[in-house]
Amino acid sequence: MSENTLIELKGLTKRYGYGDTETLALKDFDLEIKRGEFIMIMGPSGCGKTTLLDIIGLLDRATRGNYILNGEDVASISANRQAKLRAKKIGFVFQNFNLIEDLPIIENVALPLVYTGYSKTSRLKQASRALARFHLQEREYYYPHQLSGGQQQRVAIARAIVGSPEIILADEPTGNLDSRSSHVVMEELKAIHEEGNTIIMVTHNPALTAYATRVINMLDGQIDTDIKTVADANLPQPISVRFKKRKEKKVAEKAEVEATIELPKPKNSPKSKNTKSKTKAKSTKATKSKTQNSRRKK
Ligand SMILES: Nc1ncnc2c1ncn2[C@@H]1O[C@H](COP(=O)(O)OP(=O)(O)OP(=O)(O)O)[C@@H](O)[C@H]1O
Ligand SMILES: [Mg+2]
Repeated sequence: MSENTLIELKGLTKRYGYGDTETLALKDFDLEIKRGEFIMIMGPSGCGKTTLLDIIGLLDRATRGNYILNGEDVASISANRQAKLRAKKIGFVFQNFNLIEDLPIIENVALPLVYTGYSKTSRLKQASRALARFHLQEREYYYPHQLSGGQQQRVAIARAIVGSPEIILADEPTGNLDSRSSHVVMEELKAIHEEGNTIIMVTHNPALTAYATRVINMLDGQIDTDIKTVADANLPQPISVRFKKRKEKKVAEKAEVEATIELPKPKNSPKSKNTKSKTKAKSTKATKSKTQNSRRKK
């Protein structure tokens, strides 16, 4: 298990029913997920995709096996602790949006923050900011049925990211959308991924795999094929690591500037003092500037 491993599943088995009605939705399932991956899971109906997502999302438990999240085995922790971890670490997006019909969308988006201890005013402010990101700020007090399917799914994505979780789980998020709305939703997920989130998404649409860094095909509760289209070294920098590195870089830069104060600096080049660390961190820099660009567009 490397430092960058976020999730490790070992020998996961999920059984529903007993005897004649027994179904093994997952069979001895092994999977390692790195921070910053955008995984798409495909496979025929009934092969265990939703079961897998529910277990990763701590909505359900495996019958047998280990689930290691951030180095901690969470397969058999208490329901209460699971709920807390889920609220902090995981955001969900579902095919049928799962919005509460009699709450305005701003309150729908604020819901995951109920467990965080923020005041209601603060929760609504955060929800408002999340909605603004998806260009829905003018509809904050609309009810779900007053929005189109694509807009409802963007509300659901705002709800998934409002608590800044590290992992986004999406079960056929474009399943109920036309191709234009699907595209908008996928572009939002792409931007969220480039900011350093890990996304695991189930889809039946092969065209969407272009967005993924890894495509897993499941069959009968097991992995059939597993293809990485982006090398681990080129994944976006995970959020937590980025913040840490930025802090470390500032300290390193300060030391460097102090040590090289006599070096001539090119005029009008605020970045000149960074030259050394820039060369060292070339590959991560490319990912970062891509991320910053995508943010700037917002
Ligand atoms: N609550 C349940 N009780 C009994 N069997 C279940 C339950 N949930 C799922 N199953 C069975 O487990 C297997 C996997 O189901 P799952 O929902 O994970 O499939 P899926 O790959 O998501 O399918 P789809 O593409 O149709 O959504 C299926 O055979 C299903 O009938
Ligand atoms: Mg399913």
